[in-house]
Amino acid sequence: MEEYFSSSGTWGGCHTLLSIDGEPPVAPSALKADAQVWVADEQGNGQMLDCSMPRALTVPEIRNVVEDYRRAARNALEAGFDGVEIHAANGYLIDQFLRSTSNHRIDEYGGSIENRVRFLMEVAEAVQSEVGADRVGVRLAPYITARGMNCPEIVDTIEYAAECLNQLSVAYLHLSEADWDDAPQVPLEFRHQLRQVFDGALIVAGRYDQDKARDILSSGLADLVAFGRPFIANPDFPARIRHGWPLAEFDGNTLFGGTEQGYSDYPAYTPV
Ligand SMILES: Cc1cc2nc3c(=O)[nH]c(=O)nc-3n(C[C@H](O)[C@H](O)[C@H](O)COP(=O)(O)O)c2cc1C
Repeated sequence: MEEYFSSSGTWGGCHTLLSIDGEPPVAPSALKADAQVWVADEQGNGQMLDCSMPRALTVPEIRNVVEDYRRAARNALEAGFDGVEIHAANGYLIDQFLRSTSNHRIDEYGGSIENRVRFLMEVAEAVQSEVGADRVGVRLAPYITARGMNCPEIVDTIEYAAECLNQLSVAYLHLSEADWDDAPQVPLEFRHQLRQVFDGALIVAGRYDQDKARDILSSGLADLVAFGRPFIANPDFPARIRHGWPLAEFDGNTLFGGTEQGYSDYPAYTPV
């Protein structure tokens, strides 16, 4: 199995959402995310905290962040990973640039679709030049609306980004599909459109089970299906699928507890 390092960037993740040591987090624009983020102390005790008010990155800082991604990609390969997945989904820094709701910039990184996609492409080019396009994937989230991410232009923006990433010949796009109970479905039209503009592999993730995974693979609209939560409750998930063994139920109440409980303490299946 190949291992891919998922890069949210050194400025990604919490640093775009929470103050650290009194320093405001950074973002495309000084807009506070209507969201909370999980923070744990060194003992693993944690809580959900409101996101902080960020400050907007300057253009020279954006160039430094691109270099951070380049260095992170190089480090990942040196550390033995097979490739790098650029995290441009789920409200992380690159996704914030893609969305007109979180990106109010009036320079070359904001406004038009081309400008909002610019930061992603600069990161992708930097990472690709370090590790080679065939070792780069990009995670995107066109239909996610939670936590203030409901941008009316995101689908067109992501289709344009997919065209640009195709020209760069990146290996795959990974769709993080909406994964909560009443989430919007990904329309078939969008899946066909993505196939038309992107020649590489398509990975999908988000509430897939065995039947749904089989359906989308046989429809030809995805090449691979990624599973998240089923792997938590079933550490031997592939073996259970292969042998038709029953799947353990996943307990959502034990998430974000700060310890291994409910994450890595589910047992493997013991065949009778
Ligand atoms: C506990 C937990 C934490 C997650 N954290 C992140 C995260 O930090 N960033 C992210 O992009 N997705 C995150 N996800 C979403 C997963 O990457 C995946 O897209 C999602 O679980 C849908 O797949 P599934 O229905 O097979 O679980 C998280 C999911 C879970 C269950």
